[in-house]
Amino acid sequence: MPVDIDHRPVILTGDRTTGPLHLGHYVGSLKNRVALQHTHRQYLLLADTQALTDNASDPAKVRRNVLEVALDYLAVGIDPGQTTICLQSGLPALAELTLLYLNFVTVARLERNPTIKDEIQARGFGRDIPAGFLCYPAAQAADITGFKANVVPVGEDQAPLIEQTNEIVRRLNRQAGRDVLPEALALIPAVGRLPGVDGKAKMSKSQGNAISLSATPDEIRDAVRRMYTDPHHLRASDPGTVEGNVVFTYLDAFDDDHATVEDLKARYRHGGLGDALVKRRLEDVLQTLLAPIRERRAAFGRDPGHVLNLLRAGTATARERTQATLDELRACLGLFTFEEAGVGTGH
Ligand code: TRP
Repeated sequence: MPVDIDHRPVILTGDRTTGPLHLGHYVGSLKNRVALQHTHRQYLLLADTQALTDNASDPAKVRRNVLEVALDYLAVGIDPGQTTICLQSGLPALAELTLLYLNFVTVARLERNPTIKDEIQARGFGRDIPAGFLCYPAAQAADITGFKANVVPVGEDQAPLIEQTNEIVRRLNRQAGRDVLPEALALIPAVGRLPGVDGKAKMSKSQGNAISLSATPDEIRDAVRRMYTDPHHLRASDPGTVEGNVVFTYLDAFDDDHATVEDLKARYRHGGLGDALVKRRLEDVLQTLLAPIRERRAAFGRDPGHVLNLLRAGTATARERTQATLDELRACLGLFTFEEAGVGTGH
């Protein structure tokens, strides 16, 4: 019996529980999740096991952030009546699938994964990379396929992981002799990766260039004030550059009034529009976006027991679903089961 009787396409995505989510997560994936939860059977994974692959020396951080990330989900409008939020370490079938999948991927392929390569470099691991970290693409394949997900909303940096997942899926299906696992489609937003407020390529908490979803009004104001613009635009009357100017990148991502933004860009390029004015507009846009998110977060935060109950129930639902996938896959691959072994004995 399938665990799900509804026929909506399935979404699985998640986040490492290493810190509060920020605006980069919002445009990269959270916004899509909020929109898609009504038309899809959606599961969100609090990826605490994956978080340990590069945080083994700080398990307390990983533990602490489970609830924080869950609160971020609820704050942006994930509806627990529509979406199942679950805890990765509470789903043993995912760990078993990971171990199985590691036999269907080579070390060379793991080392070639562009996301892994980037992260090895960013963290300075070299050959001293934790084995769990090198192998996390196989674990992420287990996450995705354990739920038989069809769609995975992620930021563009995660695309190589979905590609590798689909390679593993094809190898397993070939070995099983039928399409037991579906291939997954990465859903990547048109707005590219959001740069940090300092203009660096990626918004990241560890770089100190992020605006978190729970930022206070003062933090938002300060972040916009020190935001990277055009270093050559010294006087308002000077012509300015819009490309690579973070304030305009953010306006493109968050300001729904595209006509006004285009008009501002034209005036900025021409000269006569000061940074302070553009920043004031961006600050308004961000304050308006984040105020209700902050309020909802605070409301859920006042009742952590309720949130924990949601996670407990979601994890129980997810446990059944992922165990069903593991059982089915083991059967398709013809692995040992006591039920099968018992057939025909005594005759
Ligand atoms: N790797 C993702 C991140 O860095 C988190 C994640 C874990 C994930 N398992 C997943 C994303 C499965 C999509 C699907 O945030």
